[in-house]
Amino acid sequence: MPYRSIEDPAKLRRLLQSVLLLQADLSLPVLLRHIVEEACAMVGARYGALGVLNEERTALAEFITVGVEPAVERSIGARPTGKGILGLLITQPQPLRLANLQKHPDSAGFPPGHPEMASFLGVPIAARGDVYGNLYLTDKIGWAEFTQDDETLVVALAQAAGIAVENARLHQRIQDIAVFEDRDRIARDLHDAVIQRLFAIGLSLQAVANAAEPQLGSRIARAVADLDETIRQIRSAIFELTTPGEDQGVRAAVLALVHELQPVTGFEVPVAFDGPVDTAIDHETAEHVLFTVREALSNVARHAAATKASVTLAVDGDRVVLRVVDDGRGMGPAREGGLGLQNLRRRAEKLGGELVIEPGPGDRGTSLTWRARVGH
Ligand SMILES: Nc1ncnc2c1ncn2[C@@H]1O[C@H](COP(=O)(O)OP(=O)(O)OP(=O)(O)O)[C@@H](O)[C@H]1O
Ligand SMILES: [Mg+2]
Repeated sequence: MPYRSIEDPAKLRRLLQSVLLLQADLSLPVLLRHIVEEACAMVGARYGALGVLNEERTALAEFITVGVEPAVERSIGARPTGKGILGLLITQPQPLRLANLQKHPDSAGFPPGHPEMASFLGVPIAARGDVYGNLYLTDKIGWAEFTQDDETLVVALAQAAGIAVENARLHQRIQDIAVFEDRDRIARDLHDAVIQRLFAIGLSLQAVANAAEPQLGSRIARAVADLDETIRQIRSAIFELTTPGEDQGVRAAVLALVHELQPVTGFEVPVAFDGPVDTAIDHETAEHVLFTVREALSNVARHAAATKASVTLAVDGDRVVLRVVDDGRGMGPAREGGLGLQNLRRRAEKLGGELVIEPGPGDRGTSLTWRARVGH
């Protein structure tokens, strides 16, 4: 676009002042409003608006106005999306100055309740070479129309605005990255340091409880249960931190849990899946599955003296079957000693399933089968 100079020093000072104001550290929404306000003040427009283009640059995604009373704006209803004169600047991104926008052949007219507007000055705002949006000014106060000087001033302001918009966007992106990295670091710390340490404490408390007199033993057992609950809460916080917005599938969660329990079992435990576990198992059932895996593997670690164990999670129709098998000393006649197995049985029955404990393959070790129905 042809370069025009401004002779009037007062106008130049005003422009410089506006440009400097825009360079202040502002968030994008505040900045956009600021740009419209500065443009209105600079050329004496009664109304101003800034339309932000959608990604395809075919219509307006946002429309920020200055000068229109909020009540009036509400009564107009839907925001303009970029038809008529506003659309002209989208298809032809260059300054447009009109004495009366309603007389233009492209004018689509005003919706009911819209204030009357005649003189018009529209200028595109480019950021990094792409058109970001358009600045629209109407009704130059005390004048029949906007002048060539006004156009030159607003074009200059729009250039500064483009840079400021780009700045604000970069700033936002840097903050997003920082937040993301922070989440990752916190999740890693929680997992590696905190959970493992709580596990170790739980295990040594357990050993003390077994040797202690019954009254003390049961108090320690309660403390261990509290620790377990704390670990469970931390784990769900970790899931939320590492998978913002979306749920981690049960498959990944089981794998992560088994891996995390490796220091407890003392050997690597293979995990197999059968059927559409991620889609079929709802969030609540997944919590039970994870709980069962944890209890079964900690039993293997504490009671089985096993050298091998495996986990299988299968889905068949509305049935979920979790099996944990070890090659240890076996359980003998069912024991009612602890709360662990009772708890698993209760959870299974609540979900229309059952818990079966039997000898493992070849009559060796223990096979724990936990069944539940999904979707009820
Ligand atoms: N995989 C296994 N191999 C051998 N024995 C087992 C196995 N799992 C459980 N047991 C035996 O069954 C008992 C009951 O297990 P349960 O999980 O209900 O209680 P716990 O592990 O002793 O205590 P809690 O789970 O309440 O901390 C155990 O004390 C243990 O003797
Ligand atoms: Mg147990």
